[in-house]
Amino acid sequence: MIRAAITAVGGYVPDFVMTNDELAKFVDTNDEWITSRTGIKERRILNIPGKATSDMMVFAVEELLKKRGITALDIDLLIVGTITGDYIFPSTSNVICDKIGAKNAWGYDLSAACSGFIYALATGTQFIETGRYKKVIVIGVDKMSAILNYEDRATCVIFGDGGGAVLLEPSEDETGIQDFILKSDGSGRNYLYQVAGGSFMPPSKESVEKKLHYVHQEGQTVFKHAVVNMAEVSAEIMSKNNLTADDVTYLLPHQANKRICEATANRMGLSSDKMLMNIERYGNTTAGTIPLLLWDYEKLFKKGDNLILSAFGGGFTWGSIWVKWAYDGSKTGK
Ligand code: UT7
Repeated sequence: MIRAAITAVGGYVPDFVMTNDELAKFVDTNDEWITSRTGIKERRILNIPGKATSDMMVFAVEELLKKRGITALDIDLLIVGTITGDYIFPSTSNVICDKIGAKNAWGYDLSAACSGFIYALATGTQFIETGRYKKVIVIGVDKMSAILNYEDRATCVIFGDGGGAVLLEPSEDETGIQDFILKSDGSGRNYLYQVAGGSFMPPSKESVEKKLHYVHQEGQTVFKHAVVNMAEVSAEIMSKNNLTADDVTYLLPHQANKRICEATANRMGLSSDKMLMNIERYGNTTAGTIPLLLWDYEKLFKKGDNLILSAFGGGFTWGSIWVKWAYDGSKTGK
């Protein structure tokens, strides 16, 4: 069987840092509440006019290509997990491929909110495993600031901008994506959504006035579902593959809330040092969180490490992926 190995990682976060104290100047919140309830201290915002999701990922993909020593012309396929693409259409994949000169590639966007990266990674893996393609780029990214209401403290304190990209290639050994479990439940659409802008409610004066183009979240309901489902699916991928807590090198949980991540690690029987976090610096970048963890912690990883990537998000969508890491971080480390 051909396995899909992650052979390089790139990432990008905007330069502009918005701290909790900064947010508290224009919305009724405070650093103590945000830190204790979520673990977030600051987030990055892409505040340059005219710059969009694709622009962030041009940096990430170019970093990845440089690390791997290949060019954009080598890419076969580029899949983007995002809910904040540059346009409704064309796809952000098309835009990125044009901007980087990936003239031999095709691609598409995939909408699964916070699970966008793991859905896209599972999808990209299929094209390698069938033997059809040799170089597939999988991206998870969001510019959440584009759809946030900065008067709504229930959402604007949580999210940030950024994301990352991985290169998938046929594995030369037993490393690579080993297994995945992906799930969805569309009844969750009532608790985390952006109602206007699509075919259900096309943009109108009224939809703009009522601020319906922004993210709406019923935090507690989403929290309850996230805690249970992310923990369960992470335990499930372990039991399905006979992995013990000792076998798992690191858990890379979607960075929505440190309490959800802790519940997942507990359910898996992992000690806290095996749970990788960066929520304090970036907040919740939706599809961007897991690739940003890979990017931040790449140096730490060794060939053969067992990583469990887990996410829960809008849809509802959720799942876990077991990756056997393919290289020592120092080889291509930042
Ligand atoms: O990533 C995709 C999936 N999303 C998630 O997984 C997010 C899941 N949800 C959460 O992480 C949490 O529900 C939140 C962080 C969004 C909210 O935390 P919470 O502990 O569930 O707070 P809450 O909504 O129950 O609100 C508790 C209190 C309320 O005040 P009262 O009624 O107790 O007086 C809120 O009005 O905190 C208040 N509150 C705030 N206070 C200061 C809500 N937001 C804020 C805020 N600053 N930003």
